[in-house]
Amino acid sequence: MVNTKVNLCGLELDNPIIPASGTFGFGYEFAELYDINCLGTFSFKGTTLEPRFGNPTPRIAECTSGMINSVGLQNPGVHDVIAKELPKLKEVFDKKVIANVGGFSVEEYVECCKLLDKEEQVGILEINISCPNVHAGGTNFGTSPEGAKEVIKAVKAVTTKPVIAKLTPNVTDITEIAVACEEAGADGISLINTLFGMRIDLKSKKPVIANKMGGFSGPAIFPVALRAVYQVYDKVKIPIIGIGGVTTAKDVIEMMLAGATAVQVGAANLVNPYACRDIINDLPMMMEKYNIKDLNEIIGGAH
Ligand code: SIN
Repeated sequence: MVNTKVNLCGLELDNPIIPASGTFGFGYEFAELYDINCLGTFSFKGTTLEPRFGNPTPRIAECTSGMINSVGLQNPGVHDVIAKELPKLKEVFDKKVIANVGGFSVEEYVECCKLLDKEEQVGILEINISCPNVHAGGTNFGTSPEGAKEVIKAVKAVTTKPVIAKLTPNVTDITEIAVACEEAGADGISLINTLFGMRIDLKSKKPVIANKMGGFSGPAIFPVALRAVYQVYDKVKIPIIGIGGVTTAKDVIEMMLAGATAVQVGAANLVNPYACRDIINDLPMMMEKYNIKDLNEIIGGAH
């Protein structure tokens, strides 16, 4: 018997597998396919104070070993999330979830977090300061240590729940931003969000995506994400969630060796809706293959 249980910011997870925000809806959509209680937890669709229609279409471009999205934080707004989505989720998921929060001003992040702080099923707040698809907010905060610090400090002041900062790789030194978040009181760091990219359609000779550019994700970015996790692990003491191109149980082990306590799976859910369940099923076998008895023993083991 191997041990797959990990502790993420005080939350006991049966395993470190977490579907990433924006790739798993509010969970109940996937509960029609399998019992999602097998997940460690999951991060629900990025939520803002007001409802958002999102960006014009097309929003998706296919790439070799990945995809580009420019969704633009489409969501029903935090009031509807609390009134309609969370009650539906509660019917199919017994565990605490991660609320992913987006914003366009510090005040908006704060108001949204104040409301989510009252929700029992929310175990962790994941603050998205890294969305590449909106003109204000998002990366405006996450690309400078000062901006990141300002948001995290303000959010920490209005919640008792653990706060995780979700970081962008579209910076010169991601470790500076991670350190700033830790100094501001963050309880954890999740990284990386998508890489800024684009495609051009050869027939129309115009960008494929209406918004021209978007966030690149999928297996192609795994080595970039792994590198970022490895670097940040050297600079902070708080737990890290590794995100970016994770597709297999082997990827999970590699991320944990780099320094991740838990791992989010994103684009893989869009290719195979059973991806997380499959990874969870494969993980014990892969641990045995590599002689790992307890996942906690390998966190940061590559350093
Ligand atoms: C989006 O809704 O545009 C994606 C969210 C993100 O990448 O942060």
